[in-house]
Amino acid sequence: MAVLILLLLLSAASAVSADEDAFIGVNIGTDLSDMPHPTQVVALLKAQQIRHVRLYNADRAMLLALANTGIQVMVSVPNEQLLGIGQSNSTAANWVSHNVVAHYPATNITIISVGSEVLTAIPNAATVLVNALKFIHSALVASNLDRQIKVSTPLSSSIILDSFPPSQAFFNHTWNPVLVPMFNFLQSTGSFFMLNVYPYYEYMQSNGVIPLDYALFKPLPPNKEAVDANTLLHYSNVFDAMVDAAYFAMAFLNFTNIPVMVTESGWPSKGDSNEPDATVENANAYNSNLIRHVLNKTGTPKHPGIAVSTYIYELYNEDMKLGPVSEKNWGLFDANGSPIYILHLTGSGMVLANDTSNQTYCTARDGADSKMLQAALDWACGPGKVDCSPLLQGKPCYEPDNVLAHATYAFDTYYHQMGKDSGSCDFNGVAAITTTDPSHGSCIFPGSVGKNGSLVNITAPSMNSTSSDSSGHSIYSSGLTSVLITVVVLIWSAVFL
Ligand SMILES: *[C@@H]1O[C@H](CO)[C@@H](O)[C@H](O)[C@H]1NC(C)=O
Ligand SMILES: *[C@@H]1O[C@H](CO)[C@@H](O)[C@H](O)[C@H]1NC(C)=O
Ligand SMILES: *[C@@H]1O[C@H](CO)[C@@H](O)[C@H](O)[C@H]1NC(C)=O
Ligand SMILES: *[C@@H]1O[C@H](CO)[C@@H](O)[C@H](O)[C@H]1NC(C)=O
Ligand SMILES: *[C@@H]1O[C@H](CO)[C@@H](O)[C@H](O)[C@H]1NC(C)=O
Ligand SMILES: *[C@@H]1O[C@H](CO)[C@@H](O)[C@H](O)[C@H]1NC(C)=O
Ligand SMILES: *[C@@H]1O[C@H](CO)[C@@H](O)[C@H](O)[C@H]1NC(C)=O
Ligand SMILES: *[C@@H]1O[C@H](CO)[C@@H](O)[C@H](O)[C@H]1NC(C)=O
Ligand SMILES: *[C@@H]1O[C@H](CO)[C@@H](O)[C@H](O)[C@H]1NC(C)=O
Ligand SMILES: *[C@@H]1O[C@H](CO)[C@@H](O)[C@H](O)[C@H]1NC(C)=O
Repeated sequence: MAVLILLLLLSAASAVSADEDAFIGVNIGTDLSDMPHPTQVVALLKAQQIRHVRLYNADRAMLLALANTGIQVMVSVPNEQLLGIGQSNSTAANWVSHNVVAHYPATNITIISVGSEVLTAIPNAATVLVNALKFIHSALVASNLDRQIKVSTPLSSSIILDSFPPSQAFFNHTWNPVLVPMFNFLQSTGSFFMLNVYPYYEYMQSNGVIPLDYALFKPLPPNKEAVDANTLLHYSNVFDAMVDAAYFAMAFLNFTNIPVMVTESGWPSKGDSNEPDATVENANAYNSNLIRHVLNKTGTPKHPGIAVSTYIYELYNEDMKLGPVSEKNWGLFDANGSPIYILHLTGSGMVLANDTSNQTYCTARDGADSKMLQAALDWACGPGKVDCSPLLQGKPCYEPDNVLAHATYAFDTYYHQMGKDSGSCDFNGVAAITTTDPSHGSCIFPGSVGKNGSLVNITAPSMNSTSSDSSGHSIYSSGLTSVLITVVVLIWSAVFL
């Protein structure tokens, strides 16, 4: 009996556990030429029901504006101040007294992040990082705030090597002398491992190996999900794979009970010519799906149901950021507080949830092979029993008269006929689910919510439709599909091996 209890205790202690629900927060960068006043920032946060924010410093005016709002605040020690704090416990104590104790509890500071991507941004300061964490924590203990306020340091996921498959991921050994004492600190203080997770960069750097849909959390047919050959865990998105890579890398260092918190994640809505996937559509899809995924408390395949709270990067587009065009375009809002796009979040709670439509559509993929599109269009209008009469000359959806536009109409109609089952929007890979209404002019698509808010009715498939050639169906559902599956499996093997 005693042995059994001991075992139970041990297993409880060694598993990652979450005592809180997952939340979505937002990073507030300030590299704007017309940075809104703190009171305007807070008004936007309130209107959008954002309850968690991360500041990159401990700006006094921001902390005052956030007082008595109920918003939970992460303040940060900027990298410029890290050396001083890591070398002197009294400097650390001063910092905590000025930037935290002075504002608490009116401003609900719940987390202090010490530095930002220190190991990769300022590697020379790595040697003082753990001391900085400890000194800040000691100052909190001295002020009796260590239970209310956690301390950690956000790191770049680039320190995790071989992150696909996740079970083989490990930390760059160069950093083990810092990471091991850091994890000991995080474990003993009940804190989190903070990680910045950017599927956008993984996707960009993969040179086409990672499918865009996989990075955007778009539904993939089960046979196209990436499978970790060691664990047989299925990964349906890059985000989960990156978070699990962090869990596995920690486990290799024998740390198994430190939860991951994602301190930055997002997708740029605009880029230069080298960044064709930095689009409003993709940014909306990524952030909408990310928010739903996090709030749904799905967890990751390795730790299902364990909250992975995430801060979106970021609140505002920062026009003063240097670098490629995308650097300036990660924001959800412009400096006036106008949304860059309306997230599609109905049904996932209140945070940032402004849309009213909650609709999805099925469209032909840009750049899809036109022969495959034509074949899929023929199938949808034939065996698929879609009423394609609106595509005839003189009918509302005839223009633009090209296979991409016509296939999109047929695919979307089929998808709605099939009750929006994600498997019904594939068409051998030439179709994709989107949240943007493809309706144009008088060509109103199934699922479209008209300006007056009435849902356009979907005509049920007519059972005595003229052509019900079942041989066409079998070509689509067997032959081509298996070729594509083979290709996808090969692609993933290439990534995983
Ligand atoms: C979003 O909702 C908030 C409050 O519900 C409102 O103040 C804000 O104007 C809305 N934004 C948009 C773009 O509709
Ligand atoms: C700082 O460290 C010194 C020596 O290690 C110790 O005596 C002192 O109490 C510490 N001060 C604070 C504020 O923790
Ligand atoms: C801060 O937020 C936490 C989490 O909601 C809550 O438990 C705590 O009471 C809040 N503290 C203050 C001082 O408002
Ligand atoms: C590991 O980190 C060191 C120090 O930043 C770097 O020089 C080295 O290239 C990294 N190793 C790999 C494989 O990325
Ligand atoms: C992890 O623990 C195992 C078993 O106690 C031990 O053999 C191994 O050396 C440890 N690994 C590290 C990196 O500490
Ligand atoms: C939420 O999670 C449940 C099961 O964990 C799943 O069935 C459902 O589809 C998810 N919903 C969304 C919107 O992701
Ligand atoms: C929005 O869509 C989700 C997932 O399809 C569904 O669970 C939810 O009920 C929908 N909400 C509304 C208001 O239609
Ligand atoms: C709403 O729009 C639909 C489709 O555009 C139209 O059929 C319907 O009559 C409109 N309803 C009202 C109340 O305007
Ligand atoms: C859509 O179909 C439903 C049920 O068939 C019907 O009650 C409704 O009036 C229809 N709406 C429109 C705008 O045709
Ligand atoms: C289908 O066929 C039946 C019998 O041939 C006919 O009565 C019915 O009207 C047809 N329905 C449609 C929608 O064409």
